[in-house]
Amino acid sequence: MTSEKTKKPGPELLVVSNRLPVGIKRKDDGNYETSVSSGGLVSSLSGLSENVTFQWFGWTGIEIPDDEKEGVKKLLAKDNAVPVFFNKQLAEDHYNGFANSILWPVLHYQPGVLHFDETYWEAYSKVNQIFAAQVAESASDGDIIWIHDYHLMLLPKLLRTELKNRGKSAKIGFSLHTPFPVAEIYRTLPTSHEVLDGLLYADLIGFHTEDYVQHFVQSCQTILSVPCEDHKLRYKDRDVHVGKFVVGINPERFQEALASDQVRNRIAEFNKKYENVIRVVGVDRLDYIKGLPLKLRGFECLLREHPDMVGKIVLIQIAVPSREDVPEYQELQTEIQTTVGEINGKYGTPDYVPIVYVHKSIPFEELTALYAASDICLLTSTRDGMNLVAAEYTVCQDERNGVLLLSEFAGTSTYFYEGSIQFNPLNAHEISDALYTAAKMDTKERVEQHKNLMEFIHNHTRLMPPTLLLRTFIFKFANQVISNSTHWGKSFIDALSAC
Ligand code: UDP
Ligand code: G6P
Repeated sequence: MTSEKTKKPGPELLVVSNRLPVGIKRKDDGNYETSVSSGGLVSSLSGLSENVTFQWFGWTGIEIPDDEKEGVKKLLAKDNAVPVFFNKQLAEDHYNGFANSILWPVLHYQPGVLHFDETYWEAYSKVNQIFAAQVAESASDGDIIWIHDYHLMLLPKLLRTELKNRGKSAKIGFSLHTPFPVAEIYRTLPTSHEVLDGLLYADLIGFHTEDYVQHFVQSCQTILSVPCEDHKLRYKDRDVHVGKFVVGINPERFQEALASDQVRNRIAEFNKKYENVIRVVGVDRLDYIKGLPLKLRGFECLLREHPDMVGKIVLIQIAVPSREDVPEYQELQTEIQTTVGEINGKYGTPDYVPIVYVHKSIPFEELTALYAASDICLLTSTRDGMNLVAAEYTVCQDERNGVLLLSEFAGTSTYFYEGSIQFNPLNAHEISDALYTAAKMDTKERVEQHKNLMEFIHNHTRLMPPTLLLRTFIFKFANQVISNSTHWGKSFIDALSAC
């Protein structure tokens, strides 16, 4: 990390998100320890941190007493992270209250579950203000500031003011990692004007798909009468650029793990345990947008409609605990456990358990081995900004050529149209049919499907290996090849720098 005192000349990159790449926990002995955070936002930026130096500002996740803040700062600095502190109540009202109980459902087409409370909105504004003051204080004139996700949608405006008050100016970019819904849904947000106004002080706003870009533009036009031409909105005498940036994963990380003895041994163990059994893997945060009850009902439908599959297929579902203080998430956990028990009770035998349900986060090596040892990956999101698990599964399938079954409502489905089987997760028969088709698919077709998906991953989300980059420069084809293969982070930063 580049500290304040050792700041290099030239513009620096400051990344800002609610969630830091590592979370901290207070141990019994009073000391703190860090652990890698879960979720797609952190995964999508993990590749960038290997290639670009930046400071990453975010919430600590827990309240830290004043006399322990310096220690926590030092601990997090090892991971390139700069903590933003707030007290428990404020954090709860911002994170559980507004961000996850109001914004998240609206952005995912579920306005019916929101409970609006002025206190939550005030906390949301206050947390955005605290971020603005801290980031503005640390930034230097000419820096590039890249803000992430729905927790910080007011930050572009607040930050621009804070920078101005300090006589500084910086390029401000914003990336949304969720869908942006159609205007008719977005309008249900009680503070829809304020949120758009907050965002429109960015120089560049990035989304995962072109649909989301268009929905956003449509909302700006309908709600704030903002004109837009050629991906450029004109707001309060400034140009605000909007665009699609295809978020990627870091395939090398998985490929390296796959070559390790630890992962190879674990794959061998899975192969032995599930010999002659088709393995369906699911990896999701325990979130209602992931459609987990629908996945279970679809799998049950397969067992009911295709009795030849009973005993021959298993669903291994990893459900990473998430936002456990929000009532909707608690109710979901209970519903899933009951459904798993019901299906296992009905179709299981002393030597066959149809659904293996794991309600915890698993280590990276275990995840890689599980991806690689599975024949099918089943993702049933009712809405999902992107879904990186689809790409992670694919890069672990060079040997097995497993089949990807993907909800048509995940952002990834736009890009993985060729190479996956897509379905509407609200229809259990469609899930069952997709599973049956995948289970019966011959090797030639599996290879073809996998090749299609890999082609997309290579062309859009992968960094060039250093040796190839060097060769490319020597042969003077640099610009053309790099633009085809740049990591999404680099393309966003390049576009922001050019604004
Ligand atoms: N993941 C994790 N811990 C686990 C299992 C998975 O952090 O125990 C990661 C997974 O590798 C992926 C991310 O969580 O990178 C999930 O990203 P995705 O875009 O699929 O969904 P999100 O959780 O962001 O909604
Ligand atoms: C999604 C969101 C991220 C969030 C992640 C994990 O990917 O877009 O902003 O960090 O879920 O959720 P959490 O609430 O644990 O940060």
